[in-house]
Amino acid sequence: MNAYRLVQVADLHLGAGQEHHFDNWRKVAAWIAREKPDTVVVNGDLIMGDPDDEADYAFARATMAPLPVHCRYLPGNHDIGDNIVSGKMEKRVSDARRARFVSHFGEERFAFEAAGWGFAGINAQLLGSDGQPAEAEQWAWLEKALAGFGGKPTALFLHKPLFLDHPSEPDCEDPSMRQSCADAASRARLLDLCKRHRVRLVSSGHKHQTRSFSLDGIYYIWAPSTACVNGAPDAKHWGAREVGFVDYRFTPEGFDHRIVGADFLFRHENYIRKYGVAGQ
Ligand SMILES: [Fe+2]
Ligand SMILES: [Fe+2]
Repeated sequence: MNAYRLVQVADLHLGAGQEHHFDNWRKVAAWIAREKPDTVVVNGDLIMGDPDDEADYAFARATMAPLPVHCRYLPGNHDIGDNIVSGKMEKRVSDARRARFVSHFGEERFAFEAAGWGFAGINAQLLGSDGQPAEAEQWAWLEKALAGFGGKPTALFLHKPLFLDHPSEPDCEDPSMRQSCADAASRARLLDLCKRHRVRLVSSGHKHQTRSFSLDGIYYIWAPSTACVNGAPDAKHWGAREVGFVDYRFTPEGFDHRIVGADFLFRHENYIRKYGVAGQ
């Protein structure tokens, strides 16, 4: 059986009329058009910054439309607002913002099978939603989707990492750190599902850092951003401060991955643009 090639792109941060980040995306899109993977998972934060910016939404959709590969879309905090319990942004996830994302990109989660694997993608922004019906609906959907894979090894995609240092860590007091990953209660519930349903890989974005490790039978991969790195060089980082994307190959025996693009994309150190701007 041929390997199933899945490319994960994360944190595109596209803005109408903004050349920065779009310069990188043109290079990534050309690479995808040339390599023609079986599918592309777009792992959230397509929008530059403001989840209510209609011009950026139209620009992101128009940018993605010509890609000659089937894309699957998951939202990030800059697409539909931050998490209710653990977020930091003023704008939080809502049904209206979710509906806008779906109207532009067709979905907010997915489940499919290929090469003897199950693939599930969820809306990370709904984790810790303090009782929003959409969160309960997603938990029920995910449990059913994972059970439907029938014990196949499974890869789970979502925008935010599950944790920073360890699954046992408490929620951070500092909102800037707290918003970095899933809240502790959602993480415990998700990991319980992962362990019951043979999830072997959890692949996330959001931190604009590259990282890969395994713990208790699960590989965790933090995909870099295609757009930029965040934070000054002396800020605390968990992964490599680089841009790029992930080129996965799945077979029934396992998977390979490599990080692509760090050598031909602009690193676009975001703090330089924001340097000296109040409130950044
Ligand atoms: Fe991002
Ligand atoms: Fe994000």
